[in-house]
Amino acid sequence: MVTSAKQSQNIFLCTSCGHESRKWLGRCPQCGEWDSLSEQKPKPRLRGAAAEVFPLNGEGGEETARLVTGISELDRTLGGGIVPGSMILIGGDPGIGKSTLILQLLAALAAQRHKLLYVSGEESVQQIRMRAERLSVQSEHIFLAAENSVQAIISLVEEVRPAFLAVDSIQTMHSETVGSAPGSVTQVRESASLFLNLAKRSGLPVILIGHVTKDGSIAGPRVLEHMVDTVLYFEGDSSQVFRLLRTVKNRFGSTNEIGVFEMKESGLAEVDNPSALFLAERPVNVPGSVVMPSVEGTRPILVEVQALVSPSSLGTSRRTAIGADPQRLALLTAVLEKKIGVTLFDHDIFLNIAGGIRIDEPALDLAVIVALLSSLHEKVVDPTTAVCGEVGLAGEIRAVSQMEMRLREAKRLGFKTLLMPESSRRQLEVSAVEGIQLHPVRSVHDAVERLFG
Ligand code: TYD
Ligand code: MG
Repeated sequence: MVTSAKQSQNIFLCTSCGHESRKWLGRCPQCGEWDSLSEQKPKPRLRGAAAEVFPLNGEGGEETARLVTGISELDRTLGGGIVPGSMILIGGDPGIGKSTLILQLLAALAAQRHKLLYVSGEESVQQIRMRAERLSVQSEHIFLAAENSVQAIISLVEEVRPAFLAVDSIQTMHSETVGSAPGSVTQVRESASLFLNLAKRSGLPVILIGHVTKDGSIAGPRVLEHMVDTVLYFEGDSSQVFRLLRTVKNRFGSTNEIGVFEMKESGLAEVDNPSALFLAERPVNVPGSVVMPSVEGTRPILVEVQALVSPSSLGTSRRTAIGADPQRLALLTAVLEKKIGVTLFDHDIFLNIAGGIRIDEPALDLAVIVALLSSLHEKVVDPTTAVCGEVGLAGEIRAVSQMEMRLREAKRLGFKTLLMPESSRRQLEVSAVEGIQLHPVRSVHDAVERLFG
């Protein structure tokens, strides 16, 4: 018989991914890490004051006004501002600009005379002041503290009574109630849950910064995603100037929204015409390049799809996709081989969405196919033509959403023709079609005929 030790109430938590198990396992079923489960006491269920109850359609429990930062690229990703009592997580690679963004957010709120508290476990007050100087942020409404203890921060909050709390970063925080080291899954979760409790109890909105880590040795923001109300990821290539703030979860707004910023000497600047930015360095009359009107959230953005197809010198051919799904690329090459009859198995294929943006929507498919063929045959795609459409396994071109929005954006940036799914043609209003020529296509074959003859 298996005895009491294993039947204890304790739980086992994976120190690598945070997976919870009732019994000890040699290997974590979620992340596959060996010997990563450690025994933990389950959190006691606290008995406290019961929450008030409210009728669904009646008085009481109204949402108080959101804190609107006035930085519209940020407000949009938040669903229109910061909701009182909400907890927001901003994740991103180290060095991408999270601390800069937060300081600018605080500056915007301070300009409305809100009292704010910025707690850093990473930098000294002096270092934060230096960054503020660089950003020309000066305010008597922003209070700084270099502190790692969650309990100490909660006391600080009670003393300062800010309208907003920023914690930089959650991986440096530790709670005195648990023994493990800062940055471990247990510590990160416990600290975050204490902040969450503070937010819900007092109505104080809290923003947590979390570093994304590749090796998983430190608990990344993923282990917190389910706890918080809103998750934003700050992305971009640190060698490039622009940054994307992407909403991946929002209890108070839509997801897939993006905010676009440019990292300048004096901090982050809003970009209100992202299409122009992403197309700024587009080479014209070069094979392997085509423009695709994509939609991110409620926003159309034109992007340049680049492909390089060349005979492989090695025994095995290489397939690389940057900014697009490699699986999707594999599928599209298979469709090309089958439906158009080109030979690609002995070619290296590189696909890149220029500028470091990531496109996950299937409307990208047709542009990928066009870019691949353009490079393979060394045939230039007319630079005033944009391309979009989903491609099915039978080589059919399927409808895409938000066609009108894509069309308007293409027109606005001076595109003259749009190669698009025939099935999307019907949904378009006459006025949208004015000033741009449409080439509706049904199949990959049609599209290739149209563009390359
Ligand atoms: P930071 O906000 O410290 O990144 P994170 O908190 O995500 O680790 O900023 C990182 C980089 O941004 C840093 O390498 C310098 C650069 N930067 C600018 O280019 N301009 C600025 O005004 C500031 C403050 C930073
Ligand atoms: Mg930082």
